[in-house]
Amino acid sequence: MKIGIFDSGLGGLVITRAFINEMPEYDYVYYGDTQNLPYGEKTSGSILSYTLEAVRFLIAQDCSLIITACNTATSIALRYLQQRFIPSYAPSVKVLGVVIPTVEEALLPATSKVGVIATSATVRSQIYRIELQKIRPELYVREIAAPELVPAIENNNFAEAEKIVRNYVSRFADMDSLILGCTHYPLVKNFFREYLPRHVRVISQDELMGAKLRDYLRRHQEIDGGLERRSDYQFLVSSLNHHYQKVAETLFPDIPVRERIR
Ligand code: DGL
Repeated sequence: MKIGIFDSGLGGLVITRAFINEMPEYDYVYYGDTQNLPYGEKTSGSILSYTLEAVRFLIAQDCSLIITACNTATSIALRYLQQRFIPSYAPSVKVLGVVIPTVEEALLPATSKVGVIATSATVRSQIYRIELQKIRPELYVREIAAPELVPAIENNNFAEAEKIVRNYVSRFADMDSLILGCTHYPLVKNFFREYLPRHVRVISQDELMGAKLRDYLRRHQEIDGGLERRSDYQFLVSSLNHHYQKVAETLFPDIPVRERIR
């Protein structure tokens, strides 16, 4: 069995890179639903149905552990997947998200104010506020949506992305930490680090998810034991064009991205 990773577009490839760097021995299947991007500005109903479809697809590719490397899908669909869908559809499969590992990383002992920048759907769900305050009820949380940022990144327009980041950072200058709550944002984390005051700790999911997955597998031998270790990597998208091919090549020059066969 394999590890499946899912995102709305190519942002999740950054998380896949982190997994492969940390644990190259496993088999990975990446699936980016480029046809329906961006999820962040869609209704919860659409996000849920796209996510279910993607998870079904990854199960059909022999994935027994699936990571929704998309904060938007995690916010809207993970609870339903874990509590309702998976127990009846594929009870031996595990589905994990990216929010809880990020929350754990954000809560240093001295942290009292946390900012979250994410898509509109993630902010609307308030998932970060809820999960952070479950652990530390007195924590101040400021969540702001940046709907323009994912399209700029997916279009490889980093000059535009830099301008957008500059427009948002002043709203987080008084925070202890800023969670980049979207898997596309690690691609622009340097802009956040450049324009925010030094005291704001920028939490970028590509820097934490590799170690978190390793730790999860160490604690769950029953899952780890069933995973193949042939270093076989497959990257699939729902719709491929020249532009996506180029973006993927910059992240993984040696692994081709292919369009999924329906
Ligand atoms: N990468 C997704 C996330 O982490 C968002 C991209 C989108 O809007 O589709 O939230």
